[in-house]
Amino acid sequence: MSVVRRHWRRERVAPDLSASQHQGRDDFMNQDFAGRKVIIIGGSSGMGFATAQQVLAGGGSAVITGRNPDKLRAAVEALTQNGKAWGIAAELTDRLQVPAVRQQLAAEHADANLLVNAAGIFLPRAFSEYDEAFYDSFNELNRAMFFITQTVVAGMVAGGEGGSIVNIGAVWAHQGIAAGPHAGYSVQKGGVHSLTKALAIELAPHAIRVNAVVPAAVKTPPYLRQFPEEDLGLTENTFASMHPVGRIGTPEDVANMVSFLLSNKASWMTGAIVDVDGGVMAGRNQ
Ligand SMILES: NC(=O)c1ccc[n+]([C@@H]2O[C@H](COP(=O)([O-])OP(=O)(O)OC[C@H]3O[C@@H](n4cnc5c(N)ncnc54)[C@H](OP(=O)(O)O)[C@@H]3O)[C@@H](O)[C@H]2O)c1
Repeated sequence: MSVVRRHWRRERVAPDLSASQHQGRDDFMNQDFAGRKVIIIGGSSGMGFATAQQVLAGGGSAVITGRNPDKLRAAVEALTQNGKAWGIAAELTDRLQVPAVRQQLAAEHADANLLVNAAGIFLPRAFSEYDEAFYDSFNELNRAMFFITQTVVAGMVAGGEGGSIVNIGAVWAHQGIAAGPHAGYSVQKGGVHSLTKALAIELAPHAIRVNAVVPAAVKTPPYLRQFPEEDLGLTENTFASMHPVGRIGTPEDVANMVSFLLSNKASWMTGAIVDVDGGVMAGRNQ
């Protein structure tokens, strides 16, 4: 009698989870942001810019910040095709530039009741090669967003109608990933996650909700900059296979969740740290 061995192969039953196939994006685009203004710190590209587009599509307006003035101008121009948008340029790791941003926000945009803290960049460097200035740049960015948030919250409290804040964290604050050393980035994003919970409690009496999204690898300019063009396919595939859904994210994948958290549809959510990561925090394929 022959023994029939069953070989269980770990087959990839590959559901097509490409971004274009995602149902529901239109729903997110139709969040009701009529009469609402969002301030997006780091909104001139990537997830911040995609969120600005969605808020405008929902009838709101957007103030975006960025470092590069030309890029910022182009982003504002693109947004104004669909609604009102303003730009503020500043290097936020330079603490001398932060007061002017706060003053402009207080003087011209105190009516904003939505805020997204999206500025950040993944810069891999070996722990042993950090100098103090490089380490400080991560903390300076958090310091800037801390005090800018304080300014925006003052406007929300004065407005008396509450508000919603969404911070963009990163899976790199939850787990180490060997593909690129990231100690300073983890310190920064760990701070973002912690601040989210602290402010959720402190601002709840003012009806201001504070949540965070936690992306894994997303195809945006900083991601692309890390790797030479000719390696991109390989790199994308390498990163893609790390994610249980089999692909890296798009800015819209993350913006969909940010817009939801900004909207009144998330009115019972505060202090949440939401993984938007293709399943990485559930378990990695490699
Ligand atoms: N892409 C990913 O794989 C990934 C994964 C997890 C988390 N994240 C986080 O998600 C957030 C959005 O990133 P993204 O991928 O959408 O990047 P992005 O397209 O480069 O957008 C980053 C934005 O922040 C601004 N910014 C960056 N550093 C700044 C600084 N020092 N001072 C002032 N503005 C600054 C950028 O302006 P300029 O372009 O002018 O510098 C830009 O507007 C970041 O916090 C990032 O750390 C990204």
